Amino acid sequence: MKKLIGAMLACLLAGGVMAVDTPVVTGDTGGLSSERGAVALGNDEAAAPLKNYRKDGDPLAREYVHQPPLIPHDVRNYEIDSKVNKCLACHSFKNATVMKAPRVSPSHFETRDGMTLGDVSPRRYFCLQCHVPQTDAKPLVDNTFKPLESLK
Ligand code: HEC
Ligand code: HEC
Repeated sequence: MKKLIGAMLACLLAGGVMAVDTPVVTGDTGGLSSERGAVALGNDEAAAPLKNYRKDGDPLAREYVHQPPLIPHDVRNYEIDSKVNKCLACHSFKNATVMKAPRVSPSHFETRDGMTLGDVSPRRYFCLQCHVPQTDAKPLVDNTFKPLESLK
């Protein structure tokens, strides 16, 4: 019985210690409270390493028309922000030949209104929005999708 009370006390104490962590909202939030409390955005934490990551290898075939091709190489530390786009250092029209990389296709210069720009369109700037690295991921749910015959 004594042991049980001890355990219960320990739980209570642990609860008490956790309560000390209640979020402290800093700065002027305009009276709004955040679900995240005072916990900073995890920008300084590195993303978890990909499992089943395919090492640089043969590109997987595309399976339907207009599919963004999968990325057949590592993209770790390839920075993309408003000033730098590491992907374009190899894939832009200008650099692709020297870097022996496939160049972005002309569709990447088109705005959503069908205008063709002289540079990659903002809607195609953040490459990883559409292109993802190849992995050996198994489908999470069964499906009957079959790749297009004409693309095989
Ligand atoms: C150092 C140069 C370099 C950088 C930086 C680079 N790539 Fe590549 N990329 C290549 C090369 C070379 C290939 C061709 C590899 C092959 O065919 O095996 C390739 C292939 C690809 C392909 C496949 C194209 C196809 O038609 O199958 C995609 C998509 C791609 N890269 C996207 C990206 C994205 C997105 C980034 C930035 C996150 C990036 N690459 C950064 C060199 C680079
Ligand atoms: C909005 C989605 C989207 C974004 C963002 C995007 N792409 Fe693509 N990408 C595609 C699609 C779809 C295709 C295949 C059809 C086409 O060429 O438009 C493609 C094709 C490619 C190809 C193969 C070109 C070829 O001729 O076979 C490369 C290389 C590529 N993209 C690189 C990039 C890079 C680098 C970026 C970032 C600067 C980027 N893409 C951003 C959708 C996107």
